[in-house]
Amino acid sequence: MNPDRIFILTGAGVSAESGLSTFRDKGGLWSQYRIEDVASIEGYERNPAKVLEFYNLRRRIHRDVQPNAAHVALGRLQREWGARGGEVTICTQNIDSLHELGGAQRVIHMHGELGKARCHDCGDVTPADGELSLSLGCAACGRVGGLRPHVVWFGETPLELDEIYDKLAAADLFVSIGTSGNVYPAAGFVAAARREGAVTMEINLEPSENAHLFDLARYGKASEAAPAWVSELIATV
Ligand code: APR
Repeated sequence: MNPDRIFILTGAGVSAESGLSTFRDKGGLWSQYRIEDVASIEGYERNPAKVLEFYNLRRRIHRDVQPNAAHVALGRLQREWGARGGEVTICTQNIDSLHELGGAQRVIHMHGELGKARCHDCGDVTPADGELSLSLGCAACGRVGGLRPHVVWFGETPLELDEIYDKLAAADLFVSIGTSGNVYPAAGFVAAARREGAVTMEINLEPSENAHLFDLARYGKASEAAPAWVSELIATV
């Protein structure tokens, strides 16, 4: 197989071996917190301090983690494939920056980024390495207390969808890595890729909700299965 354009969708499973919790595995984040309390606009408006603290805790945890072999392999594939005239789109549902730390040059963060803040009033997005609090003001509009994580919550529209669907329509190969296939629109990307004629492959610890929609599958740890796949693919050309 020598696909020119590869679309890779990643989920929390690609960062699990870096030490970041997934959401729906045993002991995952959604077994510790209620989504409606910490990952919805209603929860934020009800108790913004609680939501800011949830993401501040995740930001503190994120400071100590490193990209794993899966992130590094995908960064290598994006660079080497691009150098050969191909294109690798990395679209992640994750809000961590481990793809970039693993060498990826362009990453679509469809659910936003932990390292950025957005003003609830004017929408201005700025880097946010430090912790967010209600005492901070927006540099653009001056509103104090309205800085929220630049993260897409349930009920909100994911980011960069126009570019995502353009890249999906053009893809020869669609690869899903480390996602349970529970949350739309991301869970619908494999069907969209199939409709456009792409070959589809899943790399995951276990079959996802959408396993039946994939032509190919490799089950195992992302830090092992993803590098093996990338090495085989690069060796074929
Ligand atoms: N290697 C490969 N896959 C793994 C590993 C691993 N080491 N560990 C876990 N997995 C798999 C699990 O089997 C599961 O299918 O990763 C998947 C993680 O699924 P979820 O916890 O549901 O995470 P994700 O699919 O990314 O969730 C999507 O839901 O709550 C929202 O915004 C949140 O972006 C998130 C979205």
